[in-house]
Amino acid sequence: MTQHVTAAPALTDSVPTREWWRDAVIYQVYPRSFADGNGDGMGDLPGVTARLPHLRDLGVDAVWLSPFYASPQADAGYDVADYRAVDPMFGTLTDADDLVREAHSLGLRVIVDLVPNHCSDQHEWFKQALREGPGSPLRDRFHFRPGKGDDGELPPNDWESIFGGPAWTRVEDGSWYLHLFAPEQPDFNWDHPAVKDEFRSILRFWLDLGIDGFRIDVAHGLVKAEGLPDIGHEEQVKLLGSQAVPYFDQDGVHEIYRDWRKILDEYTREDGTERIAVAEAWTPTVERSALYLRPDELHQAFNFEYLTTEWDADALRAVIDRSLAAMNAVDAPATWVLSNHDVVRHSTRFADGDEARGLRRARAATLLMLALPGSAYIYQGEELGLPEVTDLPDEVRQDPAFFRSTGQDGTRDGCRVPLPWSGERAPFGFGPVAGGPSWLPQPDSWKDLSVAAQTGDPASTLEFYRSALAVRREHPALGAGRGVEWLEAPEGVLAFRRTSATGDFVCAVNLTSSPVTLPTPGTPLLASAEADAVAAGADETVLPADSTVWWAA
Ligand code: NOJ
Repeated sequence: MTQHVTAAPALTDSVPTREWWRDAVIYQVYPRSFADGNGDGMGDLPGVTARLPHLRDLGVDAVWLSPFYASPQADAGYDVADYRAVDPMFGTLTDADDLVREAHSLGLRVIVDLVPNHCSDQHEWFKQALREGPGSPLRDRFHFRPGKGDDGELPPNDWESIFGGPAWTRVEDGSWYLHLFAPEQPDFNWDHPAVKDEFRSILRFWLDLGIDGFRIDVAHGLVKAEGLPDIGHEEQVKLLGSQAVPYFDQDGVHEIYRDWRKILDEYTREDGTERIAVAEAWTPTVERSALYLRPDELHQAFNFEYLTTEWDADALRAVIDRSLAAMNAVDAPATWVLSNHDVVRHSTRFADGDEARGLRRARAATLLMLALPGSAYIYQGEELGLPEVTDLPDEVRQDPAFFRSTGQDGTRDGCRVPLPWSGERAPFGFGPVAGGPSWLPQPDSWKDLSVAAQTGDPASTLEFYRSALAVRREHPALGAGRGVEWLEAPEGVLAFRRTSATGDFVCAVNLTSSPVTLPTPGTPLLASAEADAVAAGADETVLPADSTVWWAA
């Protein structure tokens, strides 16, 4: 491979510990599906705590927990009834405290989910607002409006819920309230000072408990355009991510994050380590996402443009370049993510109908992601190579998006099936008793994908993830720095060098469906394909279809 020079700003060898988040590998725990400590079929916090050694052994830096707060679970906990309480289904506040302490003792940081765009319709404020009736100032904490039409029988505007149907629900006294998601999730009015004060206090509550950061749900949605103007377009969900809409990514949100950054900075630990916030912000461009990461705002934002990019060399290279340029401009790290609890697992997305191909590509994509400068997110179960479960019977499904839409596509239960840990019978160690319950059924084939079944098998996806994360730790320059130096490579192949004082590193990804031969740039460190499939010679290496290799160079 000859060098093909594009701008590659200087690489620093490692990031200072206080800025641990700049190159952190963060593992998403979806608590209801991770580990069930009490055998009721639902994952819980004691279950997570007991399984933290798995995450330490995997080699991640931090854990992000999806919501475990008191909630009627209309949207799997993203409908919060009490932001300062743990739902009994998940445990107690003491369990949360134990989890944070145990994580810290294992060297893992803990990020919790904050849901500020909306609460549950069972939140005390919303119940009060309903009780007090039209005109009550308590209604001003939400978006209540009279309807249109002769009798107010039409919604106040044409906004659609992300989960389908109108974004407005009418209450008994005839007024309507706004909910960008399910009707059980009324949107807060972020112009109201009480809302701002309440969330400042919630931030402090969890920071006082010792957590290391927040993942901010719907970070782009808090502020709505003045006057709540019509959009004039149906199927608005298709506009999201590519066009501006009056309920997302309004400039007013940034004032909120500047305010929160001051609080986070106040909580910097004595040794200088920072508490962080990562934005779930679906914006039309990465440049718009970068605005959330200006030095006085948040620390990271999920790179959804990367997540939604297909298995295509040109498209991936373009999104990598665009992401690095946008994030470098605000001195923020890029982030890389392939799966989460809202999308089809990437081994299935990349499969094109062939599960084995999907897994090959998923492993190759992981090595690519972990070789890029910045922070990477892993969604629970991807380290086991779990596929999406696509044949769940309708009666077990719980995703509100399923019930408000017309079919299975785009619904999210298939990536939320409880993890297999060990054993011959479902729930495969998810709960304490073989043959016990699990809130969604696992496929029988997951017996062979459990943590116990894969541990010690060098060909397994789990051991592959462990090796990749160990190499990344040994070579701190891997996640550090700001750029990649693209190398010349055949069509459909991505190759780049990362340079550091402690040695260079080369990563090559073959995205084609045939083997390719490349000049060997150094000593092989790790390959996503089975070792004997990669023909590595002193001068040339044959890279199998859909695979990635790392070399020390
Ligand atoms: C994004 C979360 O990731 C998703 O699971 C949830 O349904 C919506 N926000 C609403 O809170």
